[in-house]
Amino acid sequence: MNAAAPYDVEAIRRDFPILSREVYGKPLVYLDNGASAQKPRAVIDAVSRAFTSEYANVHRGLHFLSNLATEKYEEARETVRGFVNAASTDEIVFTRNSTEAINLVAASFGASFREGDEIVLSIMEHHSNIVPWHFHREHKGVVIRWAPVADDGTFLLDEFEKLLSPRTKIVAITHMSNVLGTVVPVKDVIRLAHARGIPVLVDGSQAAVHLPVDVRDLDADFYCFTGHKLYGPTGIGVLYGKRALLAAMPPYMGGGEMIRDVTEDTVTYADPPHRFEAGTPPIVEAIGLGAALRYVESIGRDRIAAHEARLRDYAHERLSRINSLIVYGTAKDKGAIVAFNMTGAHPHDISTIIDREGVAVRAGTHCAQPLLARYGVTATCRASFGLYNTLAEVDRLADALHKAQTFFA
Ligand SMILES: Cc1ncc(COP(=O)(O)O)c(C=O)c1O
Repeated sequence: MNAAAPYDVEAIRRDFPILSREVYGKPLVYLDNGASAQKPRAVIDAVSRAFTSEYANVHRGLHFLSNLATEKYEEARETVRGFVNAASTDEIVFTRNSTEAINLVAASFGASFREGDEIVLSIMEHHSNIVPWHFHREHKGVVIRWAPVADDGTFLLDEFEKLLSPRTKIVAITHMSNVLGTVVPVKDVIRLAHARGIPVLVDGSQAAVHLPVDVRDLDADFYCFTGHKLYGPTGIGVLYGKRALLAAMPPYMGGGEMIRDVTEDTVTYADPPHRFEAGTPPIVEAIGLGAALRYVESIGRDRIAAHEARLRDYAHERLSRINSLIVYGTAKDKGAIVAFNMTGAHPHDISTIIDREGVAVRAGTHCAQPLLARYGVTATCRASFGLYNTLAEVDRLADALHKAQTFFA
């Protein structure tokens, strides 16, 4: 797509077959992108082609199809490298999802953590970036410190800095909250941590979908994201890690593909990234992810961000006109994710009512219980937008919420 051309959202929507379906006899308004995004034809075709005519196990055979599948799998790694601007494909580890990527770092990089060591998280983390660190707290007595947010969801950089100490072993922090939409100034976070020699893992599960990401510009030590939120298949995620860090880390899982040599008494390991890809990898899923990233790049990440900013602003404006709604997260720098509750109604009831109008939103904890506790709630609704959503869909959301409000009035 021409970068100067207007953003043709209707043409983009035609790339996603599922968007033309109806639910309950109404056109689908899919606003659950923060949980998982729909797939463009380019991804569906790439996956189908891989199974239909390019499939075999990778890195093993010397036969034609094995070589072809290996080539496509490694091509996907190169696409990911370019997508995050890593220096080398050796720094790109394929995982099943973000959850596995973070567990990998926690288990492997964190193997040397000891009692009294400290880990700094933000209060906005998804459970995926909390529970693997709790394991260190439970098993070794590592201390978790929590960086706070202001009431409007703004990340408090000064308060974060106060948490860094000579005992801090890692900062693990989201780039964009999956509930509040807050964009964390991770470049500043990394600068402050590095000034004290502390490495930083950035959870880009939401941010990589909505913002251009450059791991070298950020100087991130680890950066992860998950394919299914980025218009790619499930079962594929990415861990970027600086070469020197990955090279010094012990394996996470043992098995085929990750070794150099095994004898009865010894084992030596392959270099990264293969050291961290034990067993048959998600071959077709990686190929599908490559297609998804190329699709996103063909539209242009700056243009997607600009379109989603319009959706975010319009959604905030429309929702602010509904008296009974409480919106969580109005930080100046935030993505197109809007969490809300309606006074006097349970979020599950709200989502069920608007679902009947064809509007799909999420309701629940969003796997962020510490954050919800910070706001004194146990659940919220969440509308999360993607590159194919329209202003008219924001109207459909607002109209459905008006209807729900009448129901509970
Ligand atoms: C910020 C954030 N981190 C991590 C995850 C976990 O992603 P996955 O379940 O694909 O591992 C999510 C998913 O909702 C998320 O929003």
